This record gives sequence, C-alpha cells and structure tokens, in this order.
Amino acid sequence: MGYASLYPSVSSVTLNVMKILITGGAGFLGVGLAGEFLNSEQNQILTELVLADIAPLRDSVLAADKRVRSVTGDLRGLLKGDLLNGVDGIFHLAAAVSGECEADIDAGMRANLDTTRALLDACRALAKPPRLVFSSSLAVYGGEMPDVIADTTLPMPQNSYGAQKFICEQLIADYTRKGYVDGRSVRLPTVTVRPGKPNKAASGFMSGIIREPLAGVDAVCPVDPQTGVWVTSPRYAARGLIAAFETPPEKWGSRIAMNLPGLSVRVSEMLAALKNCAGEKAAARVRVEIDDTISRIVGGWPWRFDTARARALGLTGPAAMDDIVAEYRADYPQAVQAR
Ligand SMILES: NC(=O)c1ccc[n+]([C@@H]2O[C@H](COP(=O)([O-])OP(=O)(O)OC[C@H]3O[C@@H](n4cnc5c(N)ncnc54)[C@H](O)[C@@H]3O)[C@@H](O)[C@H]2O)c1
Repeated sequence: MGYASLYPSVSSVTLNVMKILITGGAGFLGVGLAGEFLNSEQNQILTELVLADIAPLRDSVLAADKRVRSVTGDLRGLLKGDLLNGVDGIFHLAAAVSGECEADIDAGMRANLDTTRALLDACRALAKPPRLVFSSSLAVYGGEMPDVIADTTLPMPQNSYGAQKFICEQLIADYTRKGYVDGRSVRLPTVTVRPGKPNKAASGFMSGIIREPLAGVDAVCPVDPQTGVWVTSPRYAARGLIAAFETPPEKWGSRIAMNLPGLSVRVSEMLAALKNCAGEKAAARVRVEIDDTISRIVGGWPWRFDTARARALGLTGPAAMDDIVAEYRADYPQAVQAR
C-alpha cells in the first residue's frame, strides 16, 4: 500500500520546491519521511534531498538515490557551514527522545531547544524564508485535561521533552510571524511499530511489545495494560508531515501547531492485535512488569483527540491496531519470524 492510496494530495503543489532538508534524516521517521517524500507528488520538482544527522545514514536505498545527499554531524555545527544554502523546505526532526530528556535536562535542552533555535536563526539569515515543518508531539499535553483534546486545548506539558517541544512550537510561531520562516508544527501521536532496537523514548515499549514477539523475542510491557495511548503508524506520520508541508499558509492559518489524527487504543488492545496477527505463542511472549517512571510519563499523556482541523485538510489516522501491525509486517518482512 503506497501513500497515494492513503490520501490524495492535500493541496495542489504550492511551492516550486527544489531543495529539501530533513534534520534527523537518519532516524526512524526521517528515513520513512525521505522515502515517502521521494515517492510523493513533490518528487517531480525535487532536485536535492539533504538528510542531516549526527548519526550516519544506514538506509541503503536512500543512500543509493542520486537525489539524496547525506550529511553527518551535529546540526549546530552543520549550520555554520553551507547546509541551508538554496534550501526551500525543511523538515526539522532532529531531537532527543522523551526518556533521554527526562534523565538529563541539559542534554534535552541542547538537542531540542538550542538546536531548534540555532536552526531558526540560520533560517533568519537566508534571503528567502524556507517552509519549515517541525515534528512536535502529543507530549505537549498533560496535567489537568479535558477527556478529549481539541485543537484549541491549551498544552500543559508535564515532562521536559513535552516542555521543549512546546517552547519550540512557540519559537516557530514567532519566527513565522516575523517572516523569517513559513513554519508549522505537527503534533504526532506515538508512532509504532518502530523497527530495529529499542530506544530511550518512554513510549518505546509501544513498538517493543509488537516488534519483539513478531521476531520471536520476549518483551516487557512496563505499564498497566488498561493504559490508553494515542498512536499512529510510520506511513501515516510521514504523510501528515508531508501534508503540513504541502498546505499553503492561508489554508494553514495562524494557529501554528496541528494535532495529527491517530488511533485511541488501550495497551491491552495492542496486545490483542498482536494475538490476532501472530497467534497465541507470540502474544505469550509479553509479560507485564510495571515501571513507575514510564507509567507516570505515558499515563500522563492524553489518548483521546478531536482532530477536526487535520481532518478538514483530508488527513486521517489508522483505522485499527491490526492495520498498524500489518503495515509493519509488510514493510519489515525480514524482522518477522514465520508462524
Ligand atoms: N517516533 C515517535 O513516536 C514520535 C512521536 C512524536 C514526535 N516525534 C518526533 O519526531 C522526530 C523524529 O523522531 P524519531 O522517532 O525518528 O526519532 P529518532 O531518534 O529515530 O531520530 C531522531 C534523529 O535525530 C538525530 N539527532 C538528534 N540530535 C541531533 C543533532 N543535534 N544534530 C543532528 N542530528 C541529531 C538523531 O541522531 C536521530 O537519528 C523527533 O523530533 C521526535 O521528537 C516522534
């Protein structure tokens, strides 16, 4: 299933897009976004896709694509060079994840806040303001919340990662108001199933409890299975970011951040989907061992959203957890053990 079958293009192409930069371009979503961007309508006017990351690009398909240039280094250092020369659009994904930010506030501030500010100031020095899409998160919400988060609900982050995302949204809003960038922030649900090794995100188990059993490996669920979570799949996340990029400023409006549609699901329903798709034996590989820190962070995130604004742009989320598991099996067949 390709993106074209998930959504029609949100708008007619509004930019004479030529050169695009993805920061964090060697990461999970950066690689997925790059692949989808190269296959989207935008590819007809794309001359160069730059993937900048402190980690090397390991995706051999992207590395072999003549339109892709991979640049390795810390973003703040790269910005002192020619990284932004001729750039028309930026997807700013480079970030430290929630667990890292909670464990080390300085590291989180450096990776998330200082890097974003350096990027915005480098954009400010450009002759033409680039369009910039920022990957924010549902972690901007927390504390006392309504049962259903609306587009108008005021974020009240309850962890460092969420606070840093919200501050960056505000910076992007102000730099947009000043005309230094044409910015928009997309608040992503937790994206699952992430391939490869576990990361330090508090939400990482939402991939682990599916990915590891599918590979024939045991997994730990660190939260009460009745916990509700807000999830989407990599393809829907990438498409949401591309749609934000495609939307002209007058259609995007003055509210800079948008909640992306997703799926409200209890962890127990995720485990049921694993059982549906891979059988009893795979499901039995998950054991519950409560981790208080992860439970507090994830339990403090909202899981029911009314995403009217995104839906008005034609965006949707996955219909069922079974579909998310099926997407992972289709995209990473080598990571799934035969039943
Ligand atoms: N995956 C999710 O569930 C999810 C949910 C909500 C928001 N987000 C956001 O989406 C973005 C991408 O997430 P992901 O899951 O792909 O994370 P990831 O960790 O796989 O990718 C992030 C990449 O950024 C790079 N990076 C970090 N600091 C850097 C720096 N100073 N200079 C250059 N590169 C740097 C890392 O090396 C990494 O490859 C992040 O901003 C994240 O906060 C992700």
